[in-house]
Amino acid sequence: MRVGVVGLKRGLHLAAWCLRLGMDVVIACDRDAGPRSEARESLPGTVIVGDWRELLELRLDGVVLANDFDEHAPLAIAFLERGVHVLSEAAACKDGAEGRRLIEAVERSSATYSFAENYVFHPHVRLIRQAVDGGELGRITLVEADYLHGMSPEDVTALVGDPAHWRGRIAATAYCTHTVSPVLALTGAWPVEVSAFSVDESEPRAAVVLVVRLSNGALAVTKHGFLQGEPGSHWSWVSARGTKALAESVRGPAERSWSVRVQAEGWTRPDGVAREEERTPPALHVDGKAVERGAEGDVLLLEGFRATVEKGEPPLVPVRAAVAASLVGVAGATSLNEGSRPVRVPDVRG
Ligand SMILES: NC(=O)c1ccc[n+]([C@@H]2O[C@H](COP(=O)([O-])OP(=O)(O)OC[C@H]3O[C@@H](n4cnc5c(N)ncnc54)[C@H](O)[C@@H]3O)[C@@H](O)[C@H]2O)c1
Repeated sequence: MRVGVVGLKRGLHLAAWCLRLGMDVVIACDRDAGPRSEARESLPGTVIVGDWRELLELRLDGVVLANDFDEHAPLAIAFLERGVHVLSEAAACKDGAEGRRLIEAVERSSATYSFAENYVFHPHVRLIRQAVDGGELGRITLVEADYLHGMSPEDVTALVGDPAHWRGRIAATAYCTHTVSPVLALTGAWPVEVSAFSVDESEPRAAVVLVVRLSNGALAVTKHGFLQGEPGSHWSWVSARGTKALAESVRGPAERSWSVRVQAEGWTRPDGVAREEERTPPALHVDGKAVERGAEGDVLLLEGFRATVEKGEPPLVPVRAAVAASLVGVAGATSLNEGSRPVRVPDVRG
């Protein structure tokens, strides 16, 4: 499978995994010289260019988009129009109109769109999903999901303080897909309405809480941004409560933070005795070697992308789910600007 990669920070990490998984990374692109020279060292067999449009001419099988957060849709549409399968980082779109254009482009294209939401495939999320799909939890009523970074004020400013960089220019609610996508995957539901709150009114951009009503009547509460006490599991903590039991990431150090605690109430069990259990995810291996926990989601995502391109399997996270998760952040921005009022999320179910 011949792939190209656009954006060589996060994209370089994904390109390295593409190679390890046996894909041919024929071309990679960054508009800046620094990432290009780094890529020349770590991707010796790959052509490195500065203009992504060069990739359009190469009849690639697939492209990985890891350019700026708020600029993915125009590139995705251009590649889809050339029949190139797309794996795109978040966000899928920056507003409802762009989201609709992206969905239409996928529907017109001979190629597919997959959302690069590795957070759906992190070890703890997979364990919770198993419990949900196996019916252990009953009907899911409340999902909470955090994507939080515990950083010093100086480091936060260095990361998001430049209004010209995408991290500085996007709305405080925008980067919600690492929490909302797992919520949608766990519940099979769609976002209907969102109310957004700043955690700290004196630092309104630092961290936000989104309260999202889902199409199945359940509620999701997601937090993202910068708060102290981040989880060791790649900044992700997830909890799903059902009518019979709860499954949630363990708030523990290092390796334990990938585990999941399942608690079933006594009244739901034949023996009347409550059961609490900690489950450790099995290791994922590539070429006989255990994959680092934080990269498991990337590996599964890239393997899923290859199965979509080579075998015609459905995208792991398809375009409508990608657009829906991204539009939660857009509607959340309106809510935040308008006193946290509930704002409808456009219905993109089709
Ligand atoms: N899923 C994850 O775990 C994860 C982790 C990190 C980043 N990301 C996502 O990946 C994307 C990139 O994040 P990052 O941290 O690498 O950002 P970054 O700003 O550090 O790097 C982006 C790179 O893309 C290049 N670029 C941007 N637009 C380009 C264009 N049109 N043509 C060529 N090069 C272009 C920039 O020069 C830069 O080198 C974002 O959407 C981010 O949300 C996802």
